[in-house]
Amino acid sequence: MTNTGTLSRYWMFSDEYTQDPYPFLAQLRAEQPVCRVETPDGVRAWVVSRYDDVRDALSDPRLGRDIGKLYAALGKQLGQEIKPADEISNHLANSDPPRHTPLRKALTFAFTPKRVRGLRDGWEKVVDDLLDEMVRTDNRDLVSGLNEPLPIITIAQLMGVPDADWPRFLVWTNTLRRVDASDPTGIIAEHTRQLSDYLKALIATKQRTPQDDLISALVHADEDKRLTAAEALSTAFALMTGGNDTTTSLLNGSFAALLTHTGEADKIRADWSLLPNAVEELLRFTSPLINSLQRVTLEPVELCGVKIPKDEIIIISLAGANHDPHAFADRAAELDITRPKPAHVSFGYGIHYCLGSHMSKALTELAIRRVYERFPGIRLAVHPSEVRYRPGLMVRPMIDLPVRF
Ligand code: HEM
Repeated sequence: MTNTGTLSRYWMFSDEYTQDPYPFLAQLRAEQPVCRVETPDGVRAWVVSRYDDVRDALSDPRLGRDIGKLYAALGKQLGQEIKPADEISNHLANSDPPRHTPLRKALTFAFTPKRVRGLRDGWEKVVDDLLDEMVRTDNRDLVSGLNEPLPIITIAQLMGVPDADWPRFLVWTNTLRRVDASDPTGIIAEHTRQLSDYLKALIATKQRTPQDDLISALVHADEDKRLTAAEALSTAFALMTGGNDTTTSLLNGSFAALLTHTGEADKIRADWSLLPNAVEELLRFTSPLINSLQRVTLEPVELCGVKIPKDEIIIISLAGANHDPHAFADRAAELDITRPKPAHVSFGYGIHYCLGSHMSKALTELAIRRVYERFPGIRLAVHPSEVRYRPGLMVRPMIDLPVRF
């Protein structure tokens, strides 16, 4: 284990952590399983990093996701009132029971594995078109050519966005990726408004004329599972913010891992039946979300012997859990695509467990297979150490992934 020395309060915001969080997380698990951190703008939080503690924290009802309570706690620390944009953020991932329960029930009912299976044939064409475009334009960056556009195009298809609207949709959602950034020109607010207006009109159309898509299913279900137009709007934002960067991150991490562990890639190419288990291992190994959504303590709690007051922010390290040697037999740092059913926490655990897990796994399997079938000689065009990431509290966005076909 690399020891990173005494951790400063800001270790989680250092470039060393962004580029390679695992030595920091190994030190945390060994020395400070519940560790205090501070953001550069002065917010204090606690980080939980061991596998068992992470699962306990994700299923602890005293650690809430209610966005109003979370923002109130953040505002208290910063000495200013912060309000979430209700229209788009008042969704299941940002709520606790009892509000969470019916919203989740409605989405679970509409977003079935059967619906995902029905879309799969169309995805193959989307992947092939994106790869054709990469060849035509001489773009050899898998991030911009395939991994960024693929998830949002398929989420748009899932929701029932007409194909002709994808270009606008891509522009808006690319802006949404930067939702954490400051917005001096107002472009993020403007694009969020345009996307919101677009989705309101789309939902109204689906209410009048239902089709075979997720939004129609949400607004036309039986009464106990039906969403209002306002609930469907925030749910659509949950799907886009929950499914887009996360799936891009899994695709980025998976290709980077396979292109640097060519022996593992060769095993898959020799026997495609290994692919589903390989994607589970890639989910564990790459941890597309390094941390879950933040929690707020709804009452005083004790985690690993540390007493934490009410209204404190908790960061749950999924990457820390996924690389915990106690959970993965001391070979946690290795990529082993034949590891039997790795019980990773990349999709979370408990009541907020990811509802898009089947979709993102199917999409990743397809993308890996098509890329290797079409470009059997594909190689990384840079040294692995040149694959760099941007900082991010949940996703570490990969900057680019240059390849040779
Ligand atoms: C590799 C891709 C993905 C990863 C790693 C991922 C990860 C996660 C995680 C960790 C959570 C739980 C968050 C928490 O408890 O703090 C979650 C929740 C969720 N995910 Fe995903 N996700 C992925 C893809 C998707 C896709 C494609 C969709 C939909 C199109 C989606 C929709 C959701 C929704 C709606 C929730 C909230 C569920 C709830 O609050 O009950 N995710 N996801």
